[in-house]
Amino acid sequence: MRTADIRRRFLDFFAERGHTVVPSAPLPTPDPTLLFVNAGMVPFKPYLAGEAAPPWPRATSVQKCVRTLDIEEVGRTTRHGSFFQMNGNFSFGDYFKEEAISYAWQLSTAPVADGGYGLDPERIWATVHHSDDEAAELWRRVAGLPDERIVRRGDEDNFWSMGVPGPCGPCSELYYDRGPALGRAGGPAVDEDRYMEFWNLVFMQYERGEGAGKTGYPILGELPRRNIDTGMGLERMATLLQGVDNLYEIDETRPVLQRAAELTGVRYGSDHQADVRLRVVADHVRTALMMLADGTAPGNEGRGYVLRRILRRAVRSVRLLGHQDPCLPELLPVARDCMRHSYPEVAEEFGRIAQQAYAEEDAFRSTLRQGTTVLDTAVAEVKASGGHLLPGQQAFLLHDTYGFPIDLTLEMAEEQGVEVDREGFTALMAEQRERARADARTRKSVGALDTSALRSVLDAHGPTDWRAYDTLLTDSTVLALLGPDGPLKAVGAGGIATVVLDRTPFYAESGGQDSDAGALTGASVEAEVLDVQRPLPGLVVHQVRVTAGELAVGDAVRASVDPEWRLGARQAHSGTHVLHAALRQVLGPTALQAGSYNRPGYLRLDFPWRGALGPAARGEVEEAANRALRRDLAVDVRWMSLPEAKELGALALFGETYGERVRVVEIGGAWSRELCGGTHVERAAQIGVVALTGESSVGAGMRRLEAAVGFEGFGYLARERDLVARLAEQLQAPRAQLPERVAVLLDRLKAADQRAEELRRRAELGRAAELASAAAEVGAALLVTATTDGDARSLALAVRDRLPQDRPGVAAVGAEAAGKATLAVALNRAARESGMSAGELVKALLSGRGGGSAEVAQGGGLAADALPEALRAVPGLLVRRD
Ligand code: ALA
Repeated sequence: MRTADIRRRFLDFFAERGHTVVPSAPLPTPDPTLLFVNAGMVPFKPYLAGEAAPPWPRATSVQKCVRTLDIEEVGRTTRHGSFFQMNGNFSFGDYFKEEAISYAWQLSTAPVADGGYGLDPERIWATVHHSDDEAAELWRRVAGLPDERIVRRGDEDNFWSMGVPGPCGPCSELYYDRGPALGRAGGPAVDEDRYMEFWNLVFMQYERGEGAGKTGYPILGELPRRNIDTGMGLERMATLLQGVDNLYEIDETRPVLQRAAELTGVRYGSDHQADVRLRVVADHVRTALMMLADGTAPGNEGRGYVLRRILRRAVRSVRLLGHQDPCLPELLPVARDCMRHSYPEVAEEFGRIAQQAYAEEDAFRSTLRQGTTVLDTAVAEVKASGGHLLPGQQAFLLHDTYGFPIDLTLEMAEEQGVEVDREGFTALMAEQRERARADARTRKSVGALDTSALRSVLDAHGPTDWRAYDTLLTDSTVLALLGPDGPLKAVGAGGIATVVLDRTPFYAESGGQDSDAGALTGASVEAEVLDVQRPLPGLVVHQVRVTAGELAVGDAVRASVDPEWRLGARQAHSGTHVLHAALRQVLGPTALQAGSYNRPGYLRLDFPWRGALGPAARGEVEEAANRALRRDLAVDVRWMSLPEAKELGALALFGETYGERVRVVEIGGAWSRELCGGTHVERAAQIGVVALTGESSVGAGMRRLEAAVGFEGFGYLARERDLVARLAEQLQAPRAQLPERVAVLLDRLKAADQRAEELRRRAELGRAAELASAAAEVGAALLVTATTDGDARSLALAVRDRLPQDRPGVAAVGAEAAGKATLAVALNRAARESGMSAGELVKALLSGRGGGSAEVAQGGGLAADALPEALRAVPGLLVRRD
């Protein structure tokens, strides 16, 4: 039965029984305790809690849900999905236990021809809260369930709340026995894979308070009314009715899994680890589609971060399966076609959804490209030195420089058998935050000064005589000194203070141009100028550090701007105007500067533009800028009225306020004409060179160009030239052929990796056959124990598959890496049917560390030298079973 049909039957069944059909609420929820709706009852919470009058006594819905707490389980078990749909029927103080139980039973067991799901009543089990005699009795009476299929369980399993304060109550769950192939007999308490939960009926009658976990909270009292909240997992019912193994194989997810398998060339069902990855892809792509459709965009916080993680995990899983090209353009449309029948909006909104998803994949791919190499090298070094802990410093570098989220580092390191020094990482992150704060404090200390102190200085002394346009040197007097706690008389060596001079040649930071650097020198003092600002109109203040002697109010000092600095600043600022004009010449007038910053040697310019410029357009812009330098255009500064400036078409920048008379800076007359208060060169050739160093995105629809200018521009080009020369030497190829040569090498490397992998696989399969043929007889069972340098789990499975199927067969394989051992156990069906369980064997061998299913299980945390003994203990455990 198709998922859409299961859904329709549910709604029809309850609509016929007086329930109002309520459409699904969007995934993001206004409930302050949650990011996404995580259960069918969430939109009804106020009615259940008695906070609002319910508009209907009964309702039914199929609610979209997201749960990412157990995201690590996705793909590993048969039943965890990060997105799922919960079919529910609700009673708000109307019917209670008897009807709820009766409805669930009727719909589950009614024949398909009569609109039901046709489940075999003999295979259904129910659990009830250990105190709930009433529910147990109802299962007997209404459903005719025998006592042995009514299981009583405690608060952990059979008391339900949202995990936060609110309505709660005892619950009763329905399970379906999927047969002995999937696990041991004995009901849901023994094996939740074989016995799959498909419906939870909550008898909501209490209100709970704050507290952690499933039981650590108080019950505050009874709700005003007794309610019913049920949840039937749509995907789980589909798993049962479509006869598939797990919820990743149902009609709404399987096509994505299939497409991922085609893309990667992996055959589903041939390798456990690959299967898990394919399921992760199928699950996550669908979840991302549904989140995007409901308006969540990838980001660094809250919902956006959950989505970003999901998308990145999907992309990475596909890469790990061997497909290196972008995968979402291949997979997302498949997910859309699976979901559009129930949710037409995923098709209607697909243009936007796809754009957001594909842009996120692109960004992640470039992060991965850079970070993976760094991480792999660091992991290899750790291993080579016999360690197993990646230093926190490396994780920090990856985070800080390559934008690698810590969870990704943890995951990727773990895959290679290395742990990460989390404490070290956290400490470095804290240090960095402190540094940033301290830095902001020093830089912004001028801004942080009490304005009233500044105002009284201005009132007492009048505006600063500001000479930045005319000179680099002035003889000045110290009018005032200010510290964080107010006015000072003097500052000694090592001290930092804000200085007000009667006159100054220093340029105060404004219009994107950084402040001047330089010094104040007096008869008995030297001070370095760190920052210059204009906190009030007319008042210029200097942040200085006294390097020798003492600086006191009334001192006569010589204020001198570092001439090299100022030359660099003028080159950079004029360079910014040139680049701006060149940009508009190439891209047109919409590429209007939205922000800029320049200091000696460096400039950056932000402008609105959709999409990247790319190398060709960047090249054109760079060329147009340098042509202006070669033409040595004249730079003129003119004062005029604002209307005059506008008449001339001078560019005024958004967000700036201008006075009566404005300063217009022209380069080549009309070629570049901007309102600007900055310092500039006299002729364009003085800029030297504008060398673009990078292009990036700074938010939606906003690009940033960065450039090295002046001497730094030449330095940048020289370093690039050296780099190319070194590569040419290393690769023994003429420069022009470098890209081809590298492409050939990469192809060869990839082919060699594939060959090596294939050889390793074949060798392992050969070894598996050999090991299987030399199995030892232990009682009625055949046992193989072995160790490997490769993956313990896949060898255990390969050996298991080669043991005779007609008698119990057990494969136990240990693997050792960096002083630690892991152990995997796999059983054939005959072994499982004789009552053995891989999970239990592993737990017994590793004193409880590790786990898995009855069929295959693994664990770690064993010291390498304890491995032989653990393997020697296996026969003893098998014999004991007999
Ligand atoms: N609210 C119940 C659950 O989510 C039905 O399991």
